[in-house]
Amino acid sequence: MTMNDIDLKQYIDNIPDFPKPGILFYDISSLMRNADAWQLATARMAHAVGPWQPDQLAAIESRGFLTAAPLATRLGCGIIMLRKPGKLAGETISYSYDLEYGSDTLHIQANAIVPGQRVVVTDDLLATGGTLAASIALLRKAGANVVGASVLIELTGLRGRDKIDVPLHSLMSYD
Ligand code: PRP
Ligand code: MG
Repeated sequence: MTMNDIDLKQYIDNIPDFPKPGILFYDISSLMRNADAWQLATARMAHAVGPWQPDQLAAIESRGFLTAAPLATRLGCGIIMLRKPGKLAGETISYSYDLEYGSDTLHIQANAIVPGQRVVVTDDLLATGGTLAASIALLRKAGANVVGASVLIELTGLRGRDKIDVPLHSLMSYD
C-alpha cells in the first residue's frame, strides 16, 4: 500500500445530530490531530492547487485558516484573511450574503490585493456554497483574479458546487 491509496475519510469522525438534530457532522478535528493524516491531506491539497499558480491564498474565517496556512507554506505563496466584521485593521471592503435565517458579512483589507493577482480561495467545507460564493464575490470586488477554490470536504447533495464559477477541488466528498 502506498501513500496514494490511503483513504482520508477514515480519519473524519462522523458525528450525528450536530449542530442540529438530523444533521451528520463530518469533523476535521480528528483528521487534524493525526499528524501523518493531516500532512497527507495538505500535501494532496497542495498537489491539486499548485497548477493554478496562485500568488495568494484567501482563507475564510475560521476553519479556512487551517487549510490555508499549510497550503501557503507548501506552495510558497501568501495568505489573505477573509474575516467576520470588526476583526481586520484599517480600511476594509465587505460583502454581505444571505443565510437560511438572516445574513452574514465578510471583510477583506482594502489594500490586500494587487489588482489582477491570482488568488485561490480555501475553506474546510463546501455545504450550500453560500460562504465560498460570497468569498469569491468579495475577492473580485477587491480586484482579485480568482483562479480556483479548494476545500477538504464537499457535501455534494447540497449542490453548492453549482454556485461556484471557478475550478473547484475537493479532497473528500459525501452525498
Ligand atoms: C462552516 C464551514 C464553511 C461553511 C460552509 O463555517 O467552515 O465555512 O460553514 O457552509 P456553506 O457552504 O453552507 O456556506 P461556519 O460558518 O460554521 O464557521 P467556522 O468556520 O468559523 O467554524
Ligand atoms: Mg467556516
